[in-house]
Formats: sequence, structure tokens, C-alpha cells
Amino acid sequence: MSRNIIFAANWKMNKSVRETPDFAPRLKAELANAPKVEFEVVIAPPATHLMALGPALKSTGFKLAAQNCGQGKSGAFTGEISPVVLKELGCEYVILGHSERRHVYGEKDVLILARLKAAVDEGLKVILCVGEKLEERKAGKTFSVIETQMGILNGLNLGAQLVVAYEPVWAIGTGENATPEQAQEVHAFIRKGLGSAGASTPIQYGGSVKPENAATLLAKADVDGFLVGGASLEAGTFAGVIKNGLQSRT
Ligand code: 13P
Repeated sequence: MSRNIIFAANWKMNKSVRETPDFAPRLKAELANAPKVEFEVVIAPPATHLMALGPALKSTGFKLAAQNCGQGKSGAFTGEISPVVLKELGCEYVILGHSERRHVYGEKDVLILARLKAAVDEGLKVILCVGEKLEERKAGKTFSVIETQMGILNGLNLGAQLVVAYEPVWAIGTGENATPEQAQEVHAFIRKGLGSAGASTPIQYGGSVKPENAATLLAKADVDGFLVGGASLEAGTFAGVIKNGLQSRT
């Protein structure tokens, strides 16, 4: 079963609105000589930049994503952004359960599930992030942590609206990526846990992905793309990730 290869840029809280629109045509130009393999590009700017980036994506085929979304259509949720509005702004995807949301802002699985349901109801595709902390890995708890985080999907059938991103917390922004073998081991575990949906659900790896490690990571059977932070901020570098990664699939 061939799955979509998805390269997603998570800009986190970086870039100004003004420097945002240029990125898409630059990336498009950089990808002109990419290996002839089908792939998808998703860009998740800060929510304040969605309006500036959306129109700039039109001629590129790249998809727009939000970094989080509110847990309902509207209402008393100060500081939150409705999935209805994200759709209105042209988002196709939303990232949920990112490690920074979980560990810096204390988001728990129950809240992530509420956000996920609201997003899916509006027709958004969800990139659900899971991943263990260093102490959890050292204590041999990687699989149980992932199983718990994936547990919010029990009883739901998201079909093509689900992408999973495995992002070990210890690899995010540290320069120390998971080895291809470590990534493959967890991706295979996640896919098995997804049951019959597993064969068609893309599972991205995230955590210190860069042009230098993209090919060996994407060469693994259960790695279907990347969720990229730091190396997605500059079009040439992100293109390097994509092109080097795709080399391993030619
Ligand atoms: P880095 O690529 O900067 O390690 O960030 C990964 C990440 O958190 C993407 O969501």
C-alpha cells in the first residue's frame, strides 16, 4: 500500500507576517528539480500569518495548516482559534498535541481529543503528534507513552483525515535526531496500533530533521514524511530536506 509522503513545516512562533508570502514561491522554485516522486508539502505558520500565506500558496499546490485549534466551533475560549475559521482561511490541516503544547502549556490528552473532534467535524485533517520524553525512553516507557497518547483515537474512525507525527521530545530542537532504526521501531508500533487504518495512515517523523539526515530516515519502510521545525524556516533548507528525503524513494 503506497502512502502519501508528506513534508510539513512547523514554523512555531517564528517569522514576521511580512516575510511570510515570499516563502512559498521560493520553495516552489527550489523544488523544480526535485526527484520525480509524488509528495505533499504542508506549511503551518503562526495563526496570525495564515491570511498572508494562504493566497501565496494558491499557485504552488502546497497546503496550509494551523499549529493548533480550539475545542469547539465558537464560544468562551479566550485566546483560541476556531476550526471553522481555520477552514475559512484555507487550512486543510491542523497540528494537534504537539510536544510544546503538551509540555510547555500542559495540554492533556482529554483536551487534545476535544480539539481533534472539533477539527475533524469541520473537515480538517489532523496531524496528531506523539512522542516520549528522554526520561521515559531511558525508563523503557517509550511504547507505553505512545500507546496512551494514541489512545485518544480509540473508537474513532478518521480515515484519510488522520496523519500521525512521531516526535520524540528529546529530539526536538536539540540537533539529536532519532536514528532511522529508532524511528522505524516506533513507527511500526504506531502503525500496528492503528489496526486496519494503519496501512493507509501516513506517519511522519519529527525531531532535528535536516537535509543531512533526511535520506536515511525516509528510507525506512514506515517513515512517510517529516514534521520539521528549525530546518523548515528557510526555503532552501526545507527544500534540501524534501529533495534528499525523496532521493531515498527513487
Ligand atoms: P525541530 O525540527 O526544530 O527539531 O522541531 C521539530 C518539531 O517540533 C516539529 O513540530
